[in-house]
Amino acid sequence: MVQPVRKAVFPVAGLGTRFLPATKVLPKEMLPIVDKPLIQYALEEAMEAGIEEFVLVTGRGKNLMEDHFDHAYELEAILLERGKLTELEAMERMTPDPGRLSYTRQRRPRGLGHAVWCARQFIAGEPFAVVLPDDLILAAPGCLKQMVNAYRETGGNLVAVEDVPREHTDRYGILDVETDNGRLAKARGLVEKPAPEEAPSTLSIIGRYILQPEVFDHLDKHEEGAGGEIQLTDAMARTIGDTEFHGVRFDGRRFDCGTKIGFVAANVAFALSRDELNDDVREVIQSVL
Ligand code: G1P
Repeated sequence: MVQPVRKAVFPVAGLGTRFLPATKVLPKEMLPIVDKPLIQYALEEAMEAGIEEFVLVTGRGKNLMEDHFDHAYELEAILLERGKLTELEAMERMTPDPGRLSYTRQRRPRGLGHAVWCARQFIAGEPFAVVLPDDLILAAPGCLKQMVNAYRETGGNLVAVEDVPREHTDRYGILDVETDNGRLAKARGLVEKPAPEEAPSTLSIIGRYILQPEVFDHLDKHEEGAGGEIQLTDAMARTIGDTEFHGVRFDGRRFDCGTKIGFVAANVAFALSRDELNDDVREVIQSVL
């Protein structure tokens, strides 16, 4: 029996320079896909997967997210007064219980591994999930829930993976695959953002992880990797040998909302996935084309 995954880390300190001027004052994780900010999709996916405690690793200018996950008394009073109970209930559901959501600041942009390391006190020796809100996944059940199910089989460290075109390997952490049954791939190594000609495979890490706390033994060393940053991929690679490492191909479609085209595609796909919007969205797309 594997120890259940109860906690999740959400690294949200990035500046979002690719979305300027939208992200000059607005955290990029607050950009909406249809009518919901990216960070809320991430938290809801984690809740669906059974996560009970959440930590956002933030930075300067990210305070809006704290307000987003707090009560908005004036707004709630008005919704109540106007009998908009569906909206009121939806707002209630999206907020984790008091004390279940914490924030810590990364303070310096030293890479994803460093951001996760900043949450070490909160994780306190348990297996945990990491969710990157930029990677938005349209899936039912959600990607993290699929992973929690797979994790019952694999234990150890587990990431979501996707096959990418070889010319894109330098955008991702890539698995050096030992065995692969089509759903689960066991890795003997990992490389962060290898050049296409050097990549050991084209199986890439997507922003969902289930990790054992021993990864902090390696993150503690603050060793810099690709791009001079402290890489989560490097710390995970160093656990292989002591801990098994698997990638799971999930059912669903992933959108890289850290890029403009991924963001636009996500808006179209998520709008089409909503029954009440589907017909109108099709019509609008056709008329625009
Ligand atoms: C990060 C990780 C990379 C992973 C990717 C998934 O890169 O370092 O290993 O494949 O997320 O989105 P970033 O996109 O932050 O450069």
